Formats: sequence, structure tokens, C-alpha cells
Amino acid sequence: MSPRWAALGATGLFSACAVALPQPVSSGPTSQQVFANSRDPPFYQQLDAATRARAALGHAVFNTQWVRAATPLAGRRDGLGPLYNAASCDECHNEGLRGRGPVGDGPAPQALIVQLEVPTAFDQPAKGDPHYGHVLNTAALAGLEPEGRVSIQYREDTGRYPDGTEWHVRVPRYLVSALRYGPLSPATVLKPRLAPSLFGNGLLEAVPETAITDPYVATDGRGPGAPSVGAPAWQWVDGRRRLGRFGWQGTALSIRDQTTRAFSREMGLTSRDVDHDDCTAAETDCLAQPNGGSPEVADDLLDAVVEFQRWLAVPAPGAAVVAPSTDPLFVQVGCAACHRPSLPVMLQGPDGTSTRSAIAPYTDLRLHDLGPGLADTDAAGRKVPSLWRTAPLWGLGYRVQREHYPTFLHDGRGRSIEEAILWHDGEARAAREAFEHLTTPGRTVLMQWLAAL
Ligand code: HEC
Ligand code: HEC
Repeated sequence: MSPRWAALGATGLFSACAVALPQPVSSGPTSQQVFANSRDPPFYQQLDAATRARAALGHAVFNTQWVRAATPLAGRRDGLGPLYNAASCDECHNEGLRGRGPVGDGPAPQALIVQLEVPTAFDQPAKGDPHYGHVLNTAALAGLEPEGRVSIQYREDTGRYPDGTEWHVRVPRYLVSALRYGPLSPATVLKPRLAPSLFGNGLLEAVPETAITDPYVATDGRGPGAPSVGAPAWQWVDGRRRLGRFGWQGTALSIRDQTTRAFSREMGLTSRDVDHDDCTAAETDCLAQPNGGSPEVADDLLDAVVEFQRWLAVPAPGAAVVAPSTDPLFVQVGCAACHRPSLPVMLQGPDGTSTRSAIAPYTDLRLHDLGPGLADTDAAGRKVPSLWRTAPLWGLGYRVQREHYPTFLHDGRGRSIEEAILWHDGEARAAREAFEHLTTPGRTVLMQWLAAL
């Protein structure tokens, strides 16, 4: 049990002085920091004492193991479930890193959830499965049964680069079983999604909307004024069009939006923003359970966990070598058209002033069709066209070093950076083919540069 956890649970009142506050390694607009202690990820800018205290409380909330409603001495951390996937944010996003991905055939790991969605008109909010809701909950409180189980079977595919070198990728098949409330609707799309890392998300939130929605002056070798590719992740909320930024498909508008969804759908915790769990009318035993307060996550704890994520820096590669900001091959083969090496940000200082700066996230925060290979499948087995937000590549070096078994792409099917690139098709087909046509040393140089970001 960490001291933070104890501070939150035992007294139900949090004293910010009781924990060590994360200290920024340096100030200034540079987003990348050395992560000396992974349990205390640094922030990208100097924070005033009050903000730091809120972020420290937020870190505690992030690590908190929630328990069932009305657990004695639970303080303010009760209300979990009754149906859920994990009892803390940290179980899926360990220390802000990407969740532990699938190693091989067998049950899907906890951090790889299956979202369920029935397609709706483009200007309508997303709908979950009529019986199971938005996320298949694979855990339940004692006395209840989970909604179902998920397992994966991989097939190994092999091919050769034009220069004769062999490549391998693994192709997943998802099997859903032990469905507690009958079959899924045949129209339900199964969306396997691995928990992404959370570093630098506050900086992505600070990118002005127009930098994402408007055509930009390309810095990607296609010449000035080259049109942006893909499309903004527009979401329709209460009849209004809003820009999505987070999640593998840009479905969440903000860190707070994604956080309150996670509380509701993956943990069964209500908050000020989302006042219901992911129980449907069919799930009467779920609805009949007592709740842990209205809302279950108190407002100050919600604000704090958002604040904590908002300031997280991006890990600098541990290696002594600092990678050059762009690699000529990366630009030349066309990766930078989507993985933009630079985006502007407006940073808020502690004194309320805002400063214009730039970050190097290697994403355009836009959606792209990467072809049928990566597309989701519905319960009837049909592929559905799927658009993906360009995955940010910053911090890749730290991930590759730190993660026990690093995996790539939205469902962790990629076992290496190479496999991730080989899955690029559709809009990214030309870039993938250009990559394949490099010499083996050329490909190696490019992949080594990526692994040092
Ligand atoms: C059961 C696993 C699980 C738990 C628990 C969980 N998440 Fe996540 N998280 C995910 C998955 C999967 C995604 C990707 C969702 C998508 O693409 O739609 C995600 C996405 C996110 C994102 C967006 C990241 C990005 O790069 O776009 C944020 C922010 C986030 N989670 C925060 C949280 C917080 C805060 C908590 C605790 C309140 C939490 N999550 C709990 C699995 C989890
Ligand atoms: C048309 C836009 C586009 C182009 C061009 C493109 N990518 Fe991507 N890339 C994406 C998207 C979208 C994803 C996320 C796909 C997913 O997870 O299903 C992604 C994911 C990745 C990932 C996995 C990241 C992770 O954390 O899991 C790597 C690595 C990557 N791209 C490298 C490259 C390289 C190298 C090139 C050039 C050969 C390239 N990409 C070209 C859009 C693009």
C-alpha cells in the first residue's frame, strides 16, 4: 500500500503536506524531461504551491484502489462497480505508461478493453450495445458476474521486403465468451483498445484548435502550403460540433472528458460530469446495487486527477544521445505528413499569462483511414471502416526502455516499431511502401531514430 493511498483512504480527508510533491526537473516550455523516478513523473513547467498540491492529490486519486459502496473505513474511495474492468486508473495506465499489452494467445490483459458501439448518424452521440453498454466489463463485485470474457488468438503472417529480408506481423482475432446477458447485437462494433500512455496530454490540450482543423504550412518535406491530410475528429455533443483530441480515435474532447468516461465505464464510478455507470436496463442486478454517494467521485478528487494529468511532462529518452528533431528518412518516406514534428501550443503560466511555444509530439491530432487491416469488426464479423488519430510518437524511447513487453498500435498487436509500421495502409500506404523499399540499413536507422524519441 502506498502512503498516498493510505492518505486518501484512511482518513477520507487528504492532507497535501503528507506526501512528497513531484518536483519539476527544470522550468521552461520544453516538454521533455528526464524521468528519474517513474513513480513521481515530472511536470513540464513550474507550478505554484496550490496547483502542485492539487496535482499531488490527483496523483493519489490516480493510484487509488476503489472499493465497493459502503465498505467500512473506505473514506471517499467507495462506489466501485458493480461491473467494471479495473479498480484504479493506475492498473491500466501503470505510472502513466501504456497499459501492459497482450503477450500471446489467451485472455486479453486488463488494460486491453473491448469497447462496444452501435453505429449512429455522424451528428449523433455514440451508442453502446443495448445490453452491455459502452464497454464490456470483465470484472464484477463479489456476488455478481462480469458481463463477459475476452480472449485473443493470433495468426503469424510473414512476408519479404523488396531486398529479400523477411518480416513478421501477428494478426489478432478476438473471441468474446461467457456473455451474461445474451448475445451482442449483430450491429455492435467490437473495439479492442489498449490504455495509452498519458504523458504530455496537457500539452496536446494546449494546441490551438485551428492548428488541428486548418490547412497548415507543411514542415514535412512536401513543400510550403501542402494540404493537411486526414480529418479533424469532430464529435457531436448536444447538437454542437466539438473537436475531439484524445483516445485512439479522438473521441474524447479533453483529459477531463476521458477521465469521467473512464470512471463511469471502466470503473463504475459516477462523477459530476457523468452521473451514471455503464449499466443498461437489461442489467437489473447492476442497477439494484447501492451507490457510493452522489457523485461517487467527489468534485475535488475529480478536479485533482485531471490537474495531475494536465502537467505531466513527456519523458526524454534516457540515452545520452539526443536524437535530432527530425530524421531525413522520416520526412522522405512521408511519415511526417501525419506524425507532425512540430505543433504550436499556448501555455498558461502560473500568473495567468499565456505564452506561445511549440512541441514535438509527432502527431497532427487528426484522423486517418489506415485500411481494412486495422479496422474494427462488428459482432456479425463484418469489417467496419475505422479512422484513427495519428499516434503521438514522443516518448517512444522511454516506453521501449521501461515497458516490460512494449506493444504498439491501438490494440497492442504490434510487437515492435517495425510491426507497427508494417500495419500502415490506406492513407499511409505510400509511406509504408517507401519504408519497405529502403535498404535494410536504412530501415534500421529510421527505427533506431524512432526508438530514441
Ligand atoms: C480498464 C483499463 C482502464 C482504466 C481503469 C482507465 N483507463 Fe484510461 N484508457 C484506457 C483505454 C483503453 C484508453 C483508450 C480509449 C479510447 O481509445 O477510446 C484510455 C484512454 C485514456 C486517456 C486518453 C489518452 C490519449 O492518449 O488519448 C486518458 C487521459 C485516460 N485514459 C485517463 C484515465 C484516468 C484518469 C483513469 C482513472 C480515472 C483511467 N484512464 C482509467 C484504459 C483504462
Ligand atoms: C496517413 C497518416 C500516417 C502516416 C503517413 C504514417 N502514420 Fe504512423 N500512425 C498513424 C496512425 C493513425 C497511427 C495509429 C494507428 C493505430 O493505432 O491503429 C499510427 C501509428 C504509428 C506507430 C505506433 C505508435 C504507437 O505508439 O503504438 C508508429 C511507430 C508509427 N505510426 C510510425 C510511422 C512511420 C515510421 C511512418 C512512415 C513510414 C508512419 N508512421 C506514417 C498515421 C500515419
